[in-house]
Amino acid sequence: MRLKTSLPADPNIYGFGEHSDPFRVPTGEDYQRTLWNADGAFLPPRSNIYGSHPMYIEHRKTGTHGVLLLNSNGMDIKIKGTGAEGAASLEYNTIGGVLDFYFFAGSSPTEVSEQHASAMGLPAMVPYWSLGYHQAKYGYWDVNMLAEVVGNYTKAGIPLEVIWGDIDYMDGRKDFTFDEERFPLEKMRELVDTLHDRKMKWVMMLDPGISTEEGYEAVQRGREAGAFLKADDGSDYRGVQWPGEVVWPDYFSDEGKKWWTSEIQKFFDPETGVDIDGAWNDMNEVHNFCGDISCDPAKQAEDDNIPPEPENPPRNNTGRPIPGFPDSFQPDGTLEKRRAPGDKLGLPGRDLFEPLYKINTSTDHLSDQTLYTNITNHDGTHQYDTHNMYGLSMVKATYQALLARRPGVRPFVLTRSTFLTAAKWSAHWFGDNESIWQHYRISIAQMLGFTAVHNTPMVGTDVCGFNGEAQENMCARWAMLAAFMPFMRNHADISAPHQEFYLWDSVAAAARKAIDARYRLLDYLYTAVHRSHRTGAPSVRPLFYAWPGDEATYGVDLQFLLGDAVLVSPVTDDDARSVTFYLPDDVFYDFWTREPVRGGGEAVTRDDVAWDDIPVHIRGGSVIPMRVDSANTTAELRQLGFELLVAPGGDGTAKGSLVLDDGESIDGSLSDVAFAWDGSKLVVDGDFGYESGLAVERVVVLGEKERSAEGDWSLDSSFEVNIS
Ligand code: NOJ
Repeated sequence: MRLKTSLPADPNIYGFGEHSDPFRVPTGEDYQRTLWNADGAFLPPRSNIYGSHPMYIEHRKTGTHGVLLLNSNGMDIKIKGTGAEGAASLEYNTIGGVLDFYFFAGSSPTEVSEQHASAMGLPAMVPYWSLGYHQAKYGYWDVNMLAEVVGNYTKAGIPLEVIWGDIDYMDGRKDFTFDEERFPLEKMRELVDTLHDRKMKWVMMLDPGISTEEGYEAVQRGREAGAFLKADDGSDYRGVQWPGEVVWPDYFSDEGKKWWTSEIQKFFDPETGVDIDGAWNDMNEVHNFCGDISCDPAKQAEDDNIPPEPENPPRNNTGRPIPGFPDSFQPDGTLEKRRAPGDKLGLPGRDLFEPLYKINTSTDHLSDQTLYTNITNHDGTHQYDTHNMYGLSMVKATYQALLARRPGVRPFVLTRSTFLTAAKWSAHWFGDNESIWQHYRISIAQMLGFTAVHNTPMVGTDVCGFNGEAQENMCARWAMLAAFMPFMRNHADISAPHQEFYLWDSVAAAARKAIDARYRLLDYLYTAVHRSHRTGAPSVRPLFYAWPGDEATYGVDLQFLLGDAVLVSPVTDDDARSVTFYLPDDVFYDFWTREPVRGGGEAVTRDDVAWDDIPVHIRGGSVIPMRVDSANTTAELRQLGFELLVAPGGDGTAKGSLVLDDGESIDGSLSDVAFAWDGSKLVVDGDFGYESGLAVERVVVLGEKERSAEGDWSLDSSFEVNIS
């Protein structure tokens, strides 16, 4: 389907500036994106990748609108002729589904984000602790190493909130098992008790591929429950993932969901198992180590040195149509009974492997390295139509399972694969990047895409890069940058050298300073994420969201606003000591020195930016709530009082807000505190539903002559502070 658009002659519609990175599309070039969820490591830029969100926002001086195609099928979206006046067109080439379009009329960027959220549902609120600093690595090969990493962070004086368990903990990489020699249950329980005593958190990996190994109890229970996806011959569909040959849960089915919940409850039982604080869902695009549909999973597993299963399990049919034979030989024969005419499960007679239109995936065929597209879900739909939603179905099931463990407490799930609405159940990280400057830079655009266009407030990237060797300077810069992103986790591959922040003095110094600033701003960040959860307003914004009339902001994708008032302008060139960034025509204050800076609507160059520095400005017109100090954990941070930074705008006034709650209950009480500065008086008002027991200890009014007042103003009721 082709929509004629009236794009301006020379639009910078993609938000790509002048940088020469291959991710950027020069203005005037045709642009194409393919939506088909796929594992993304080492793919060329702009390949189809982990998530699919058929949504775009178009902004111009006269207003903003958004278009969402609610369709889970694979598709190519093409924008053609962007350089020639009036010739631009937008094409959706989808291989199925319905043309269910939503048009969000705007008219401001934030309104479009909010309209999108109101149509699709609001994202979940994350627990407060999840905004702390996280460390992970594939390759922490025993429980002792996990403890040592935590200890090293303590020794280096770098706050660490969460340590993560990758698949290393598993016995033969099987979910719901421990490698008993390296991660014995008793010692794991000790580790987690120790972490919890120290007010730290523990998150573990769960992959969707369930091993078929003989005697593996979880798979046996899953089979009995009928939890797994079916091949077209009616048997459990097999493929290969980390543990070798696997089957995959059908998370859309009641059987799949119930089985998943009960395995999670059993394995993570605080009394008998390991008491997790969150779950990490990976490989859920689905990524299948079977390369294509000629793959025999058992053989593939054997090649990978995993005990072989019988090569040819019993089957009802071949899974491919055989012309001229009765129904019982045909692929859908066993499943036909589940369907009723007109049940909207997809048009009959489709080629579920090779549809006539071939979308531009990075693999040759739709079924390559994933679940075969002819697989039938329990409800009779096919993976052909639901592929892009597998990760979504998994995180939803995981969220519900965690909720069943701790009713009323916000589950924390991190997912690699996403589709529209995934943020209702999970946070997202951008998957397997590399330890290169390009990927440091692109993480900003990735973040802005998710926070502003896809209503996903809790996102981040593998800090210092996942694959390859992290360089000291890059890692220092990355620590500074990530401190201003919602989800901050350092993570690396098993083949990558260790890159924990404490390994280099300069990186440790940067991390200490970055996390100190992050923690002091943590409630400001928490409030921004909460706004997203309540209204859909982005937690992090591109500059044009704040200055929609300033065309110079439209292409900026190397700077961003945390919330609506903290402008972050990192050094972005490889190994550089200086940065040129854009300061809109507005009043600002340097976040570090607190000095006023008048933006002139022009580029500003900052030289000699130390490795532990990053340009950050507070936008005039804002009141920023900050904790009076940082702390080693968020639990300790939550005990501290506040300092309010009043940053007057051009007219001398400022406003801001602060959400306070217990940081973990889904329906707990809440205070939503509003700050308003009129030039001489700060009025603090709002809803005070949550008794925080906290106080504002200092109010600082920024300006040529900084003014301040000390006090002990309770945040559990209204108050006023006069500062002349
Ligand atoms: C792929 C994930 O993207 C990565 O983060 C993880 O470490 C590995 N799988 C191993 O589980």
